[in-house]
Amino acid sequence: MKYLFGNWKMYLDYNESINLSKQLAEVNLPSKNKIVVFPSNLAFKAVQENLASTQIATGPQNVAWVPKGGYTGEVSAHMFKDLGATYALIGHSERRHVFGETDDEVRKKVEACLDAGLIPVVCIGETKEELSEGKREYRLKKQIMKVFENLDLSGKEIIVAYEPVWAIGTGTPCLPADADDIHGWVKNELKQYTNQEIPVLYGASVNAENVLSFLSLSTIDGILAGGASVKFNDWQEIVKKAEEI
Ligand code: 13P
Repeated sequence: MKYLFGNWKMYLDYNESINLSKQLAEVNLPSKNKIVVFPSNLAFKAVQENLASTQIATGPQNVAWVPKGGYTGEVSAHMFKDLGATYALIGHSERRHVFGETDDEVRKKVEACLDAGLIPVVCIGETKEELSEGKREYRLKKQIMKVFENLDLSGKEIIVAYEPVWAIGTGTPCLPADADDIHGWVKNELKQYTNQEIPVLYGASVNAENVLSFLSLSTIDGILAGGASVKFNDWQEIVKKAEEI
């Protein structure tokens, strides 16, 4: 079983989100893999309802770390859970680098998800500068430590997504051999904090052509696609190819 996650980002407006979720529900391909889509907050409820009778689960792209209160513009993990969410993306690089989200905020959001009963999908990744300055492991180590140090999982699920910032949205992914190495390193790093098996997904410029080169690696437990997940045919192709693994 591999994880096939689609982050719809802010690519689709309400009607486009509804149309895509209806198309996905219509074909309703049976899969041995775990398929999850992350729509915008605007369309979350409607997409969740459209997919409720399928095996496709849903999650938000971000959550607030408090359940309720005077937090203008925010939506909490608890609120998404009430609407049927199963997962939540936390600390996506666009949240970290465009909106200035810190490692401390990421930690609080992870705890909020665990508390609300959502499975956090913690995104980690180094920038181009960090890569070229040899600081890749340093950055990942810090991001992992901030989330996992003294974290009380009590058997609850949590997922890590390695998304090299320099490869997101470029059409040129990390080379599979490089991803293999770094996923092995991440998995080893995670062992310092928990005996639990933590799935590690690869995300950045995954498409139907390259998906198998990642999914065929034992260090890669799944993929988190952006652009390719909002195009119905591309996503279906990814889902179909993943059945070959
Ligand atoms: P792309 O697949 O568009 O590179 O986006 C990856 C990503 O950021 C998924 O969260």
